Amino acid sequence: SSSVKLLKWENLPALLPKRDPNANKGDFGKLLILAGRSGMGGAAMMATLSALRCGCGLTTLAAASSVINACFPHLMEAVTLSLAETKDGAVSSESLTLLSEHLSSSTAAVIGCGLGHDEHTEKLVRSLVKETQTPLVIDADGINCLAGDINIVQTAKAPIILTPHPKEFSRICGKSVAEIEADREQAASQFAQQYSVHLVLKGHATVIALPDGTVYQNTTGNAGMAKGGSGDVLAGMIGSFLAQGIASEKAACLAVCLHGACGDRCAQRLSEYGILARDLIQEIPLLLRELE
Ligand code: APR
Ligand code: MG
Repeated sequence: SSSVKLLKWENLPALLPKRDPNANKGDFGKLLILAGRSGMGGAAMMATLSALRCGCGLTTLAAASSVINACFPHLMEAVTLSLAETKDGAVSSESLTLLSEHLSSSTAAVIGCGLGHDEHTEKLVRSLVKETQTPLVIDADGINCLAGDINIVQTAKAPIILTPHPKEFSRICGKSVAEIEADREQAASQFAQQYSVHLVLKGHATVIALPDGTVYQNTTGNAGMAKGGSGDVLAGMIGSFLAQGIASEKAACLAVCLHGACGDRCAQRLSEYGILARDLIQEIPLLLRELE
């Protein structure tokens, strides 16, 4: 529709704040990432590394203990919070109190990348989303955990950005993937307004829909990014900007367009076939340098 705003590389310099020369790490926020279960440690690692590359002051990965043990050597700049693990390799709901404390002292959080979806995780995610006032990015299994009771996001106290791909969106909006894809802007916008959330509907030409009815359509990115891990990178990027105090609309637009631009730059060098999610993360600082 005509009211859709196109999101281009040229829009990004205005979205990226200058870093105050007098600043210390406390001025750039604290991001908490709750991600990963056994077998999905890569998702946690990619969300964490991409968050670190987007300038957040302090990034903490909270995950099941076996995930932390596996990821730790690769996450030198991150803080790790090792959580009790169920026998199935998920985060135990015993960790709720500990996680609530960390969440309340964070300036933003990312919940869900490779987190898994079982009874424990669902209980944990629902409780955290219900009670927290900290701005949230909810991705992947974080979204799946809310699917049975999506009204939680409407009554939540915190600003929420949801980042579903069409199948995840289908689970929360009651439409089929075909219905969503027939008019992505309309489906995203209707949901964002009804539930008062920022909605990032991913895929080719990612849509960002705001609670006030504003809709952006991204122009960067390519089919080389249609591989496991790309979405985890995006979630970490949005979370990092959000943690730095950038408002939801700007944080989502900046991260989505920059993420796609990283994909485009990587594809020029490595081909759409050959690019990996980890290449997107390495590209972030090179493109930020062009925006600074
Ligand atoms: N053009 C541009 N961008 C694309 C394209 C495309 N054709 N295809 C994918 N992308 C981008 C999306 O916009 C999004 O930012 O790549 C990212 C993919 O994110 P996800 O779909 O969340 O994929 P990811 O989480 O990395 O991996 C797949 O999703 O279906 C679940 O459980 C499954 O864990 C798996 C995960
Ligand atoms: Mg995903």
